Amino acid sequence: MASNKLTLALLLFLAIFTYAKAKRGHLKETKMSVYYQDYSGDRNTTVIEIPGPSTGPLNFSKFGAMFVTDDPITEEIGEGSALIARGRGLAVTTALDGSNAHLLLSVVFIDGDYKGSTLELQGSDPQFEQVREVAVVGGTGKFRLARGYATFETLSYDPVRGHAVIQSNMTLLHY
Ligand SMILES: *[C@@H]1O[C@H](CO)[C@@H](O)[C@H](O)[C@H]1NC(C)=O
Ligand SMILES: *[C@@H]1O[C@H](CO)[C@@H](O)[C@H](O)[C@H]1NC(C)=O
Ligand SMILES: *[C@@H]1O[C@H](CO)[C@@H](O)[C@H](O)[C@H]1NC(C)=O
Repeated sequence: MASNKLTLALLLFLAIFTYAKAKRGHLKETKMSVYYQDYSGDRNTTVIEIPGPSTGPLNFSKFGAMFVTDDPITEEIGEGSALIARGRGLAVTTALDGSNAHLLLSVVFIDGDYKGSTLELQGSDPQFEQVREVAVVGGTGKFRLARGYATFETLSYDPVRGHAVIQSNMTLLHY
């Protein structure tokens, strides 16, 4: 009798355990390409240097330089295409030789399928390479428990307007 009860308890435990494991296993993969419209000129500015001891034009290779961004993120490459998110965060030039920045960026979705959800990107950004890659370390809303990676590639830069278009591809695992 006692051993029957034990077997039942064990079976019940195994069933719950298996269910929990199955639930955990349902990770979805989402891939997307989005475009950061980055304005560092004097009109519609979306990236500025956090004032430090020096002044002058933005110099991303100056160790310790800090920048704050609120870039519009569009669905397509065109400046006027559908706005789906904002790229809000900080970049700090953290390599002594100026080659790398540390990026801390929230992708805040404001429209489309992921409206109200956010993603957190963080990592060492080899800022002068053609393609940069940082980790996606988390998210909220539809991206709870997200992890993955994001690439960045500057597709164009207009020095007169200070306007850059940066393509970002993200591969995400989330529930
Ligand atoms: C830039 O700002 C002006 C207003 O100052 C606005 O008319 C224009 O649409 C903006 N351009 C973009 C691309 O956001
Ligand atoms: C940017 O800063 C670096 C490191 O301090 C310096 O070598 C370089 O001349 C600066 N570039 C400009 C355009 O000021
Ligand atoms: C990003 O995705 C686009 C569209 O699929 C592709 O053309 C491009 O090569 C990708 N960029 C990188 C760095 O993987």
